[in-house]
Amino acid sequence: MNLTEEVRLYGLIGDPVAGSRSPWIHNTVFNELGLKAAYLAFHVEPTRLGASIAGFRAIGMGGFNITIPHKQTVIGHLDGLDPFAEKLGAVNTVAVTPEGLIGYNTDGPGLVSVLRRQIGPIEDKKVLILGAGGAARGIAGSLMYNGVKEVGICNRTWTKADALIRDLEIFGKAYIVDREDFKNYDLVINTTSVGMYPFEDATPVDVKYLKPDAYVCDIVYKPRRTRLIREAEATGHKVVFGIDMLIEQAVLAEQIWFSLSDEQVDRARTLLQTELMKALQPTEGEKK
Ligand code: ATR
Repeated sequence: MNLTEEVRLYGLIGDPVAGSRSPWIHNTVFNELGLKAAYLAFHVEPTRLGASIAGFRAIGMGGFNITIPHKQTVIGHLDGLDPFAEKLGAVNTVAVTPEGLIGYNTDGPGLVSVLRRQIGPIEDKKVLILGAGGAARGIAGSLMYNGVKEVGICNRTWTKADALIRDLEIFGKAYIVDREDFKNYDLVINTTSVGMYPFEDATPVDVKYLKPDAYVCDIVYKPRRTRLIREAEATGHKVVFGIDMLIEQAVLAEQIWFSLSDEQVDRARTLLQTELMKALQPTEGEKK
């Protein structure tokens, strides 16, 4: 990367940011597309959030991402919000515009975009979400915002599922689902961390409880082929990989920051598919 004076800075703020793949993902795309941009991670504790954003304004950052624990609190430091981010009350991407700092959320919309491309219209699907944490909230909210007719939630801790359903009321009615009713759902999305490296032998659900032709999506992307995905494939389900959501939420952020052509978006997706596949291979030290 040639860091001339024309290069604008992009970045991620979070606490922690160690281990984030965002700098690698975005710099890989910037290089591929020849964008005059560089991306860094900034470790910002909650007490310094306001000062950091003021600094970002002052130095004319090109745009930035926000991660835990700032996705909600950042809103008070912005000048405007995209309608979905406003309804969800959480921001992961900020555009620097002549009107000021505008907040967006690309997490759930990233998955919605992947689902539309890979399985077609989603509005008529009944979708079961496993988990009731931050990821479940963003995904359920985005599905409901995009017209999905029924969203069910199943979580280990019932009280958290109940709290999430109340939280989602702004988008519509979601339902608590027990295992006996899993067979009613056309698409199952695992948003828990069950099955994530290094606990690859774990799975959040036995696929025998699912509708035989249900689509199965796991947002866990390391390993790429989780036990849930392997078992789903072995029993004839169509599957959607977590790696595609990871790619799409980043590509959506780049579409917000730059006026990318369709050809550039396709190039970014294809490159990230190949490069992430390599990057997510277990290292010698990680192999059992
Ligand atoms: P995130 O922001 O990634 O969604 P989170 O808010 O900590 O993370 O939520 C983690 C989700 O994974 C929760 O739904 C959690 O279930 P509980 O609410 O019962 O804690 C779920 N989860 C994590 N480990 C789990 C396990 N071993 N078995 C079942 N669910 C698990």
